[in-house]
Amino acid sequence: MSAADLFQDQIPLLRPWTGEEEVQAAAEVILSGWVSQGPKVMEFENAVAGYVGSRYGVATNACTSALHLALHLSGVGPGDEVIVPSFTCMATANAVHHAGALPVFADVDARTYNLDADSAAAAITPHTRAILVVHQIGLAADMEPFVALARKHSLALVEDGACSLGASVHGKRVGAIAAPTCFSFHPRKMITTGEGGMITTNDRELAERARVLRATGASISDLERHKAKGVLVQKYGEVGYNYRMTDIQAAIGTVQMRKLDAMLAERARQARRYDAALAEIGALEPPYVPPYATHAYSSYLVRVKPGARMGRDALLRRMAERGISCRTGIQPLHQEPFYAERYAGTRFPASEAAAQATMFLPIFPGLTEEQQERVIAELAGAMG
Ligand SMILES: Cc1ncc(COP(=O)(O)O)c(C=O)c1O
Repeated sequence: MSAADLFQDQIPLLRPWTGEEEVQAAAEVILSGWVSQGPKVMEFENAVAGYVGSRYGVATNACTSALHLALHLSGVGPGDEVIVPSFTCMATANAVHHAGALPVFADVDARTYNLDADSAAAAITPHTRAILVVHQIGLAADMEPFVALARKHSLALVEDGACSLGASVHGKRVGAIAAPTCFSFHPRKMITTGEGGMITTNDRELAERARVLRATGASISDLERHKAKGVLVQKYGEVGYNYRMTDIQAAIGTVQMRKLDAMLAERARQARRYDAALAEIGALEPPYVPPYATHAYSSYLVRVKPGARMGRDALLRRMAERGISCRTGIQPLHQEPFYAERYAGTRFPASEAAAQATMFLPIFPGLTEEQQERVIAELAGAMG
């Protein structure tokens, strides 16, 4: 089966918006003789950092590794606790473990699905070292209460902006708000490099150390050694990782960055169309956007209202039978088998309610008006 066959007769949940330009950019790198981390990675880092409004960008092979480095370089280590929303991707919590620390879950706000500041405050213990705020599903979180909380308790702050490149809050783009921020370039995110991630930060020392740690801990990068032409010997001051992005990926990413504004506009247009249709249908609640933030709509998460004609799971099955791929919302991490014992008896009502009643609808640049009308008609037929 070819990859193209995967999409036949099916409206997928998502599809990356890639084409000839990305093919050309990748081909040029492949033919250049330099395919690993090099000049294209630098160009991509400058494009992302410049776009979000931060001084530095450090590309990695995934957002998980970017989060690991950002936490580690913010002083998180063994014996520490890091506050994490329960309603997030397992990767957010995994990164805390990679840094040797323990994630401590808190609830989210019932409307924005972003970390609830009161719940985060209640989770602080003498072992808490950092708060990891997630800008969930494309909606930028208000960082002000977390900045205040971090200051009050002398905690580090790290932002997980995996899904929210291009979103903003109080007029600032995610990546330039309060703290080192990590992005993902997995195909389900705002732009893609296949797999990939990046830290954006205004902290020069953090950026420089992240560059060293992502590449085996070597004091000199391959590119610097190559450019020097003489004999340069690298030193290893600490244990590093192989978290490098390739120039092939970065070349694709740079093309994607040029398309980002158009992709954001297209996602916003599709969201408006869904919003209007859901107002008619009544039984499904559209995503909430608070007045201080913009939504990047990396996903469009709807909530099935209580008393609706059909429950969430039945609706998901019906959509799948009709060739429309939707998905359940995020499952709370405190209920995952890995954490269930430690959190037995703990309730995070907003995360649990969201997990039970929410589902994602297809939204992506390239979804045609006709396809979206089909999704809306099926929803109206089931729920209207
Ligand atoms: C909120 C969040 N954080 C982190 C990640 C991890 O990103 P990556 O797959 O690039 O490591 C994801 C990916 O799904 C995510 O949704």
